[in-house]
Amino acid sequence: MSPRKIIIDTDPGQDDAVAILTALASPEELEVLGITAVAGNVPLALTQKNARMVCELAGRPRARVFAGCDAPLARPLVTAEHVHGKTGLDGAELPDPALPLQDAHAVDFLIDTLRAEPGGTVTLCPLGPLTNIACALQKAPDIAGRIAEIVLMGGAYFEVGNITPAAEFNIYVDPEAAAAVFACGAPITVMPLDVTHKALVTPERNRAFRDLGTRVGETVAAWTDFFERFDKEKYGSDGAPLHDPCVIAYLLKPELFSGRHVNVEIETASDLTRGMTVADWWRVTDRAPNATFMGDLDADGFFALLTKRIGRL
Ligand code: RIB
Ligand code: CA
Repeated sequence: MSPRKIIIDTDPGQDDAVAILTALASPEELEVLGITAVAGNVPLALTQKNARMVCELAGRPRARVFAGCDAPLARPLVTAEHVHGKTGLDGAELPDPALPLQDAHAVDFLIDTLRAEPGGTVTLCPLGPLTNIACALQKAPDIAGRIAEIVLMGGAYFEVGNITPAAEFNIYVDPEAAAAVFACGAPITVMPLDVTHKALVTPERNRAFRDLGTRVGETVAAWTDFFERFDKEKYGSDGAPLHDPCVIAYLLKPELFSGRHVNVEIETASDLTRGMTVADWWRVTDRAPNATFMGDLDADGFFALLTKRIGRL
């Protein structure tokens, strides 16, 4: 079976980095057509640089990285250095990238690729705010019908928010973009905090990364050692939640995840609940289902997959 064509849209971020490494370590199943950077965890100048550094760490010097939007559609940018550090990849030192940034804008790359590839063959994997995806949909509405699936990390229902009491960071930063994506009609699969907060890098799982005895394994262990502080202090959790790798793991082993096909709407009007993903989990409205919203995962299976794939690099 030929590998699934994907575009990773990302705001690295240590967890984004682990997702990118896992995807690049899986060429039999995934063909990464390109990586599009967006402003989110840290400003765009850093997310595009970090994405290039991660591709070099993976030993993929021909990977194509594109810079996208440097601010949300209609609001000032909110970043998360308090979680990911000043560089966005604090915890491990990586050399500045030699891998060049592509000239094309990420939004144009998204549009051109979706139009050039056969319809229904390209999966979009957003791991940050949905600004690039929404801009592409606004500029070229025809691409909505050409997207095979959007598998994104974002939102929360039972787990509620991580940046406000009501909202998860990726959706909170650009709620207007999220509303446009959830309304576009493409098949959507959501990895919310309800799932990613069960994907915790416990000390034992962190040790498994370190015990790989590779530069990549050591780097991943150092990143998760760094970015677990925020969640441990806030939630008392037993390690860093590996949010974004859930998207890639779903593409590799969907059976690790379970959820429901429900309606998900995005709050954009209220200051109090801006960015909330209003998931009709109990189907109490007649709003049409528009997303498969994940609720659970096999965490041991997830980490076994991740460790094995990271160990290939
Ligand atoms: O809320 C978690 C999400 O926000 C993850 O994608 C993390 O990288 C940050 O972007
Ligand atoms: Ca991210």
